[in-house]
Amino acid sequence: MLNTYLSSSKEVIENWLTSTLKSSIPEFEPLYESMRYSLLLGGKRIRPILTKAVLESLQEDVEEYKEFLCALECIHTYSLIHDDLPAMDNDDYRRGKLTNHKVYGEGMAILAGDGLLTYAFQLCGENTNTTPQQQIEAIHCLAKAAGPEGMVGGQAFDLLSEDKQIPLEGLRLLHRGKTGALFNASVELALILANADESTYKAYMVYADRLGLLFQITDDILDVVGSMEELGKTPGSDIRQHKSTYVSLLGLEAARKEVDTIAKEAYDALALVSHDTQILGAIIDYLVNRTN
Ligand code: IPE
Ligand code: IPE
Ligand code: MG
Ligand code: MG
Ligand code: MG
Repeated sequence: MLNTYLSSSKEVIENWLTSTLKSSIPEFEPLYESMRYSLLLGGKRIRPILTKAVLESLQEDVEEYKEFLCALECIHTYSLIHDDLPAMDNDDYRRGKLTNHKVYGEGMAILAGDGLLTYAFQLCGENTNTTPQQQIEAIHCLAKAAGPEGMVGGQAFDLLSEDKQIPLEGLRLLHRGKTGALFNASVELALILANADESTYKAYMVYADRLGLLFQITDDILDVVGSMEELGKTPGSDIRQHKSTYVSLLGLEAARKEVDTIAKEAYDALALVSHDTQILGAIIDYLVNRTN
């Protein structure tokens, strides 16, 4: 059942993404081409799928908020383009293809990232189905998650933690920043747009926090045990770059145990919600057992 849900949601989101990002200025077309190259082919789309699933659990019509879902995927894709640059993780493959800078050069890859990040906020401003208050809150939520308090902060900490043994608490902070922040925003956006009540808000945010953390731990595990074919990116990247990861700090088995513990906490959070959380529960299992 979840597989059908994931593939149909992915299709809906990809249709929305495809209909966006059209340039009206011919001279700027090469920039758009590099943005579309990374945005449109491949990727699980798990962040906007999460927003969709939470909105649906709260009986909202997701199409009314499609700009926010596309914005999330634009920001995530920008983070991947920059993450792969030689100055950061120096990776050659992403989503089963050459990385953006390998195809378009570093300058254009930096600009494609900049373009996607900024375009995300343009999209949010173009939605006409929210109250002005909701729109501001949604934009604030995304900006906070993407910026120095969230993803960019975590990425900087990740860079500074290369060649080091950092404590587990530090690693959790790193993961919550570089990956958790956007997971939190994926859920929080839906809560803002659906005007969720306080107890639902609280429980869903605990769910989001645990999901983000377990997502990055499984990413660390897959970097060690995954294959290029399944991942669409080269495994062993963390070891090559001397990264601080759950596997480097705790070892494979303890990292797997940590995933199970955190998954249980995510389930416990859902149990406090009075809405239908079947899909959200299935997403936990999917993320625990994923191979890409
Ligand atoms: C990869 O994210 C980067 C991390 C935050 C671990 P995803 O695993 O969601 O990448 P795509 O979007 O499916 O390519
Ligand atoms: C990247 O973490 C997180 C972001 C892009 C914000 P990783 O560097 O582990 O992601 P992958 O493994 O390259 O996808
Ligand atoms: Mg990285
Ligand atoms: Mg990387
Ligand atoms: Mg990784």
